[in-house]
This record gives sequence, structure tokens and C-alpha cells, in this order.
Amino acid sequence: MQKRVLSGMQPSGKPHLGNYLGAMKPHIELQNEFECFYFIANYHALTTVRDQKKLAEMTQELAIDYLALGIDPKKTVFFKQSDIPEVTELTWILSTITPFGLLERAHAWKDAIAKGKKNPTAGLFIYPVLMASDILAYQSDLVPVGKDQKQHIEIARDIALTFNSTYGETFKLPQDLIDKNVETILGTDGVHKMSKSYGNTVDIFADEAEFSKQVMSMVTDPARIKRTDIGHPEICNVFALQKIFNLPKIKEIERKCREGKLGCVENKKFLCETIFTELKNAREKRIELRKNLDYIDKVLNTGAKKARKVATETLDRVKRHTGL
Ligand code: ADP
Ligand code: TRP
Repeated sequence: MQKRVLSGMQPSGKPHLGNYLGAMKPHIELQNEFECFYFIANYHALTTVRDQKKLAEMTQELAIDYLALGIDPKKTVFFKQSDIPEVTELTWILSTITPFGLLERAHAWKDAIAKGKKNPTAGLFIYPVLMASDILAYQSDLVPVGKDQKQHIEIARDIALTFNSTYGETFKLPQDLIDKNVETILGTDGVHKMSKSYGNTVDIFADEAEFSKQVMSMVTDPARIKRTDIGHPEICNVFALQKIFNLPKIKEIERKCREGKLGCVENKKFLCETIFTELKNAREKRIELRKNLDYIDKVLNTGAKKARKVATETLDRVKRHTGL
């Protein structure tokens, strides 16, 4: 049987290069090999977005972005998290077997506390249980995400193991799927992971001028002041991205950088053009998709029906096994 892949993404802002390389691009590619379930995690986004209009808009935008990048609704089950009430029902059941300490050790929670987040909510604390529920409800085999989400998938696996040993075999044990060539993309500051929350992003669908401005703002090797200075590609974030986007030319880029024959500005311009070209079709498709919002709704509704069928089967089983 074909393995089942599942992943979700929060509609919490504009997609950036980190999201694209760590999640969206692999999601699209995996459609050719696996049975895929992808969804827009609007319940998770509620932990940070508290504006009705904005949440609805960003949900629609993310659906458009994904379809433009190549999600094929004929092959893939594509839906909105909030259309599947069985998952939230399952979240409660799973929370009753999830140790408090396991959630206290979750990175996202620990970071929020370390950053002194004011009034952290119960929703933020049990966020990984909702994510486990997303993963387990669809009996997923593989979960493609960026490295920052790895621990959440381990938590889902732990919860599945505990449930299975308490109530008998119920859930498949999921595995993360992380592209070793990508792992974590650094932001334009060259220090932190690229993230909406750090304001260091290159937004894949920004207009040409903004996109170019963001790429050109990337911090490179600090030892290079003049074009002729000797470069150290191993510490340069632009070089790390060139390795992904311009692999066939990477030897030449490396040599010229080390010899001080390729300036950082020139290198960034080249990178900018390559990424822009790669995303050209998606950009055009996005404009077309936006003209037909009924189609977007139709795709998401059809996806929700298919996803609900699978989640309902799992929830029925869970209820039988627990005596509910
Ligand atoms: P953000 O940190 O910008 O809020 P999300 O947490 O919404 O991003 O991440 C959505 C998906 O993109 C996840 O699968 C995550 O692992 C991946 N991702 C996010 N940032 C990066 C990054 N800098 N490098 C690689 N993958 C990333
Ligand atoms: N928490 C994930 C993120 O911020 C999104 C997400 C929600 C998810 N449920 C999921 C990812 C299930 C994979 C599987 O990126």
C-alpha cells in the first residue's frame, strides 16, 4: 500500500523562503510518490492571530499560494483544519494521556516562556496535542516539515505509543520527513532561522521590487567589504541558498567567491533572478486563481469531505477502544 503523507501549515503570514524550501516545495514534490493530505492549520493559527478578517483572508491566501505552487486537488486531499471537528474531539481524548511534563519540554512552549510571553494560553500549551491529533487522525506514515517541527512529531509519536499501549493498537506511528539539504534556512540577518516572528524573511510572493530588496538585504561574509576581498562561503547564508537554487554552478560560485572575483551584490542578484524564475509560473497561476475564489472553496470543501471520512473512522475506533 502507498504510504500516507500529511502536513499542515498555519495561515499566520506571508510564506517565505524557509516555508517554501522546508515545507511547501517538498509537499508538492511528494504528491507524485505518496498519498498526500495537506491542510491549512487555522486552529493552530488562532493561538497567535486574533483578528477575524485577517485570519479568514490569510487562510484563503495560503490556499491560493499552495494551489499556485502546484498542489493538485485530483491527487491530494487539501483542506482546512477547522472543517474536521473529529480532530478537535480527538485532541481532548489525547490530552488525557499526555503528560504535562512532555508539553512543558516542547520547544515552542519553552521559547515562549523564555521570551517572557505575557499571559501564555492553555491553547499554546496544548498546541502539540492538537498537532498530534492532526497527524494521528489520518493514520499518517510520514510528516514532511522543517527541522523546527521535528520535536512536535516526536511528541505525536510518544502520544501514539502511550495510547496504543494503554488501549490496544489504534494509531500508526508517524515519522518525520526532513530534507537533509534544507533543514533550517537562515533569515536575512544570517543569524536566526528565517521566520515570520523574526521579521527576517524573503517572502516568495512579494512583488519584484520588494522581493529583490529583501534578497539584497541578506547579510553575507562580514570579512568582505570590497568586491576583491577573499570570501568564506562556508559562513555565508547567500552561498547556502545558492547551493540549493544553483547547484550546477556551485563550484564556480565557490571558487570565484574565495578568489574575490565574485562580489556579494552580483551573487545576490544572480540568486534573486534564479528564485524569481523558479517561481514565475506560480506567480502567474496565483493571479488566475484569485479570479475564481469559488473554485478555491470548492477544492477545500471536497478535500474536507475526504479527510473527514478518514478522521471519523479513526475517531470511531478510538471511542470503541476507550469505552466512550
Ligand atoms: P514561521 O516560523 O515563519 O512562523 P511556520 O512555523 O509557520 O513558520 O512553519 C511552517 C513550515 O515551514 C513548517 O513545516 C516549518 O518547519 C517550515 N519552516 C519554517 N521556517 C523554516 C526555515 N527557516 N527553514 C526551514 N523550514 C522552515
Ligand atoms: N505546527 C505546524 C507549524 O507551525 C503546523 C501543523 C499543524 C502541522 N498541524 C500539523 C504540521 C500536523 C505537520 C503535521 O508549522
